[in-house]
Amino acid sequence: MLELRDLSRRYGDTVALDGLTLTAPQGEVVGFVGPNGAGKTTAMRIALGVLEADAGHVSWNGAPATREVQRTFGYMPEERGLYPKMRVDRQLRYFAVLHARPVQAADSAATTWIERLGLAEQAEKRVEELSLGNQQRVQLAAALVHDPEALILDEPFSGLDPIGTDVMSEIPRGARQGGRGRDLLVAPARPGRADLRQGRDRQPRIVAAGRVDELRAERAERRLRVELEGEPEGWLEDVPGAAVIATEPGAVIVELREGADDQQALDAARRAGRVSSFAPVRPTLGELFRELVVER
Ligand SMILES: Nc1ncnc2c1ncn2[C@@H]1O[C@H](COP(=O)(O)OP(=O)(O)OP(=O)(O)O)[C@@H](O)[C@H]1O
Ligand SMILES: [Mg+2]
Repeated sequence: MLELRDLSRRYGDTVALDGLTLTAPQGEVVGFVGPNGAGKTTAMRIALGVLEADAGHVSWNGAPATREVQRTFGYMPEERGLYPKMRVDRQLRYFAVLHARPVQAADSAATTWIERLGLAEQAEKRVEELSLGNQQRVQLAAALVHDPEALILDEPFSGLDPIGTDVMSEIPRGARQGGRGRDLLVAPARPGRADLRQGRDRQPRIVAAGRVDELRAERAERRLRVELEGEPEGWLEDVPGAAVIATEPGAVIVELREGADDQQALDAARRAGRVSSFAPVRPTLGELFRELVVER
């Protein structure tokens, strides 16, 4: 389990982190979602021990994380760090050896990850010959090749096509199912948990945290998609706290503010006409982000 407690960090007058606390329980994928400049990379670099916090601490399995432990974490940095002239297979073997794996084990780990990440055809090429997305896959393999217990990925999805994104999403999932139960921090989030953080114009802080499905479901309780034939004007006026916030072809999106009753909204709709659909809407992670971070 990786824990960040009360982390603060400034760069001159810029407050990059202001008391960030967050836990990545064993085998969990924790994602950071936040505007550019929110402090995600800063937090990950502190977790890795490559940057000092001004205050707060990082712990690993209940004890303060030592440099020695932090060096074993797998890391995919935001600014990619591969050797452009080195062959993919040799490079991966080299990274495993750097992490004190015996040469033979390093070789077989490199082969395993080359296959898992769909890089077999690229294995003998120099990194600079690869497309951006394939370089990205090599970078992930480099973070995994020494079989780390904790994995920290900064912007793992940038530059990837949808298949690459799927492959990348499966790695953390696979790690959770496998015996190792890696701890993961990922920015931005796909599977698992998400933290949505506020931007640079105000003090950085966590505005929402929890499982992605729960965060989406919470919002869904207050938002409905209603298909009402003919869409008569003003049908919702008598329902206190309910308002139409968007229209779609053939449907309206209704928000239920404090105390508004969905059954009352349904009654009002039925009085107005034929209701062919009346259902909660779960916002996507992107919509949540806009609501929580941008529109505040
Ligand atoms: N080396 C540095 N020197 C000065 N300021 C820095 C430095 N690194 C980061 N900052 C500032 O700290 C804040 C947080 O930056 P950070 O890179 O952690 O954000 P981020 O959430 O990773 O952003 P992005 O989504 O753009 O990667 C920003 O205001 C940034 O300008
Ligand atoms: Mg960053």
